[in-house]
Amino acid sequence: MKVLLPFLPRSVLVTGANRGLGLEFVKYFVKKNQLPGAQQTTVISCARKMSPELEELLEDIHHIDVDVTNEVQVNDAASKVSKIVGSDGLSLLINNAAIMRHGKGVSGCSVEEMKETLDTNLIGVHAMTRSFQPLLKQSAESQADLPISCSRAAICNLSAELGSIKGTNKNFLYTAYKVSKAGLNMYTKCSAVDLIKDNIICFSVHPGWAQTGLGGPQAPLSGETAVEDMIEIMGNCNKKHNGAFLRKGMNSIMF
Ligand SMILES: NC(=O)c1ccc[n+]([C@@H]2O[C@H](COP(=O)([O-])OP(=O)(O)OC[C@H]3O[C@@H](n4cnc5c(N)ncnc54)[C@H](OP(=O)(O)O)[C@@H]3O)[C@@H](O)[C@H]2O)c1
Repeated sequence: MKVLLPFLPRSVLVTGANRGLGLEFVKYFVKKNQLPGAQQTTVISCARKMSPELEELLEDIHHIDVDVTNEVQVNDAASKVSKIVGSDGLSLLINNAAIMRHGKGVSGCSVEEMKETLDTNLIGVHAMTRSFQPLLKQSAESQADLPISCSRAAICNLSAELGSIKGTNKNFLYTAYKVSKAGLNMYTKCSAVDLIKDNIICFSVHPGWAQTGLGGPQAPLSGETAVEDMIEIMGNCNKKHNGAFLRKGMNSIMF
């Protein structure tokens, strides 16, 4: 895994960190910390269940059990993270956890599937953002010498190209997932406009099509490569990217 050294948040929290891209993000930061002389990033993984791969990293990270649809657990996690990071606050929140069920089209998508998908992919992000905003603000204030960036205070929401309204012409499959990500893009924009007053930058990224439980084995990108590409985006983000929906190479995706 390539490590991008200029990008050095003091702390990072990743949701859905037990597998897929969430796990790769955690591995990335652990590897970066192990480089000789590297400035240390406090790595906090959140997942609703432990996995053998995440368990192997426990010596190098802090772990908190969090189901993002459980508001009590999310609030409790914010209290725990506050104790871990102290007055430094939290530099980077990566809202990664999501589900994609396979209901086909509008008639094939049950009301239950729609509710569950919005609850996880959109309302879960809102719960995390609300609860962690004070810690992100603290990070921005405690590093007032830094420009607005992912090292200072940022929220990165994992969206998907499938959530682009402009890009949805023929493909109506995965209706609930597409609706949830379109909603997430608007949520990201609202967060960006609101939280910039606290010097917190918010943006969403499309990871590319990656081999994970969600992406499937036929995807062209490994999870590791997708995460390297997203880390590069995070490392390059500045005030002008606030509210953007970005893909590899800092290219914007149409909402
Ligand atoms: N892979 C791709 O090609 C692709 C493309 C575009 C966008 N994305 C986005 O990238 C992100 C990561 O996707 P992925 O490919 O890594 O998916 P994945 O392999 O299916 O992993 C999803 C992760 O989300 C967690 N999760 C689901 N519901 C949760 C909940 N209620 N609370 C906490 N964690 C929960 C899962 O935990 P459990 O093990 O407990 O289920 C798992 O860790 C998602 O936001 C996805 O929409 C992926």
